[in-house]
Amino acid sequence: MKKIGMGLVGPGFVAAHHIDAVRRLGDVEVIAIAGSSQSSAAKKARELKVDRSYGDFKELIADPDVQVIHNTTPNHLHLPVTLAALRAGKHVISDKPLALNSEEARQLRDEAAASGVANVVTFNYRGNPLVQQARGMIAAGETEGVTFVHGHYLQDWMTDPSVYSWRSDQAKGGVSSALGDIGSHWCDLAEHVSGLKIDSVLADLTTVIPIRYSAGSSGEAFSAGVTGERRPVAVQSEDLASVLLRFENGAKGTFSVGQVLPGHKNDLQLEVNGRACSLKWKQEEQNDLWIGYHNRPNGVMAKDPSLVSRDVRPYVHLPGGHQESWADAFLNVIRDAYRWIGEGGAAEAKSAMLPTFEDGYRSSCVVDAMLNSHAAGGVWQKVNYSST
Ligand SMILES: NC(=O)c1ccc[n+]([C@@H]2O[C@H](COP(=O)([O-])OP(=O)(O)OC[C@H]3O[C@@H](n4cnc5c(N)ncnc54)[C@H](O)[C@@H]3O)[C@@H](O)[C@H]2O)c1
Repeated sequence: MKKIGMGLVGPGFVAAHHIDAVRRLGDVEVIAIAGSSQSSAAKKARELKVDRSYGDFKELIADPDVQVIHNTTPNHLHLPVTLAALRAGKHVISDKPLALNSEEARQLRDEAAASGVANVVTFNYRGNPLVQQARGMIAAGETEGVTFVHGHYLQDWMTDPSVYSWRSDQAKGGVSSALGDIGSHWCDLAEHVSGLKIDSVLADLTTVIPIRYSAGSSGEAFSAGVTGERRPVAVQSEDLASVLLRFENGAKGTFSVGQVLPGHKNDLQLEVNGRACSLKWKQEEQNDLWIGYHNRPNGVMAKDPSLVSRDVRPYVHLPGGHQESWADAFLNVIRDAYRWIGEGGAAEAKSAMLPTFEDGYRSSCVVDAMLNSHAAGGVWQKVNYSST
């Protein structure tokens, strides 16, 4: 079988999960990785068991065996790497956020549309079967509309001031930190599941830890035990935010995001309330979907192929009671992405679940509106988004 050739730029934390996912597909070959230098790329290639390594992403993009580029670089490199890949006619799977801001994201959305290649942004929580189940139930009218969409995405890995990475450097991470990094996931999920677009926002942003201590390494995000002398760095971007939301049909919403909240590891929660029932999904208990009623006992639907609807079954890979996880949901997104790639990026071959650069651009517009709302003193701000 002729395998699809894949190359990855930015071999850090999340890169290992992109590589794991494509290897689990079976019909994709990891051809090469590109890092920030030839020596770091070669070291990572050995660790990840990849044959070829490049010290410059342009060399990887030029490799004729590579048809798909995965971009897992820090946010400031999303634009140049993705743009170069699109202009070389390669399919692109970019990690989120799509770019540093909505202007850059719009450029990538437009270039991708013009090039006609498959373009995916890994809002991977969409790949959870029970997320798709909730989406389908709402779309089918089982909740009798949507009145309120709420939840949070809370983490604690930045609680220690000695954690410093490119995410806290606005030149590399973007003006926003927590909202761009994980608020983007929540908002994408809220829109995807509810089927409604966020129309306007009112945001209150806080920097709980204004001084962090850097050891000069960029790869500290999720790694413990970085040693060496540390220097204080002033942090401008938010690590905590509370946001009110208005959706296009008049539904209201609210969510909180924070990365300095002890005890919260990857605590993403989304609840959608309709007139007939409520649906709640928690990332840390992702194999259950809570269904709440006012006139009969509440229930919990297990991730079980015999219980979910027919179109959700392809996203379930084990029988009920066999727990599936973050990596399995991530793989569901990557699997749909490669199906699309296998069809040459033809529009009709894209699954409804798959998040594209259009979604990445929308997400950047939502985050920018939140930044503008806070900068204006906490006033309602419309999401300034123009569809193609
Ligand atoms: N989908 C998710 O759930 C998820 C999870 C984590 C990270 N992310 C996203 O993935 C991206 C990477 O995040 P991370 O946590 O893996 O960061 P990281 O710092 O662990 O990895 C980034 C890698 O890029 C490399 N790099 C830096 N400059 C480079 C260059 N010029 N050329 C090639 N490589 C270069 C770094 O050396 C590092 O290996 C970010 O955009 C982040 O938002 C997404």
